[in-house]
Amino acid sequence: MVWREAPPLKLFVHAGAWLPLAWLLWAYTTDQLTANPIQTATQYAGRFAITLLVLSLACTPLHTLFRWRTVLSVRRALGLYAFMYAVGHLYLLVGLDYGFALDALWADFSNKLYIYAGMTVLLILLLLTTTSFQWWMRRLGKNWKRLHRLVYAANVLAVIHYAWAQKGDIFSLRGNILAPLLYGGLVALLLVLRLPRVRKVAGGAGDLLRRRMAARRGAEDRQS
Ligand code: HEM
Repeated sequence: MVWREAPPLKLFVHAGAWLPLAWLLWAYTTDQLTANPIQTATQYAGRFAITLLVLSLACTPLHTLFRWRTVLSVRRALGLYAFMYAVGHLYLLVGLDYGFALDALWADFSNKLYIYAGMTVLLILLLLTTTSFQWWMRRLGKNWKRLHRLVYAANVLAVIHYAWAQKGDIFSLRGNILAPLLYGGLVALLLVLRLPRVRKVAGGAGDLLRRRMAARRGAEDRQS
């Protein structure tokens, strides 16, 4: 498909996914970040990654509710961009912050469980990215869909990683935990919307609403 024929949503997604990177590079190189620019950039990259991951999870429920086919065509791109920012997040931490000093990293993080959740998410995203091509789809057949259900686990673990990485306490609702809680609620809702029964009811309700609105519009057109 040439770019002129691409649906606006596709253009919006591609532009919207590169924009944070452009902004981050600009802010970093012009000293517009905080007194600890590498840490701030690492946090931003992590937040962009989880946001794109959750958006990729939202595509199927949006299609179920609104029969919006175009949204399915951006699902893969959103997942790939999530992986790109997750790799950037890791590079900023390991490469820029620690200068690839793996022993220092191990000393600082080996006892922090949220790191293992982040590593698992990254491994899942790597697996899903490498198998996201037509060739793998054909080769794996029905198993491709099964394998790509790992994206559900990736979303849940990414929220756990996010919540745990905060300097707050999720159990006593203190500190910077509002954003991870919002992401967690959204992921829970998007997963519930995928349960076969809920999906059927939600799809049916959406169809009914659209038929009613179309009937009302038709009646208004006839009156005018
Ligand atoms: C090997 C994999 C990973 C490692 C070692 C890692 C490490 C870290 C560390 C050390 C922090 C705390 C940063 C700080 O506050 O100074 C952090 C925060 C975070 N990470 Fe990761 N991470 C990994 C993978 C991921 C992935 C795959 C995602 C998303 C899909 C992600 C999303 C986040 C988010 C959203 C934060 C919180 C940022 C904030 O405080 O606003 N991370 N990660």
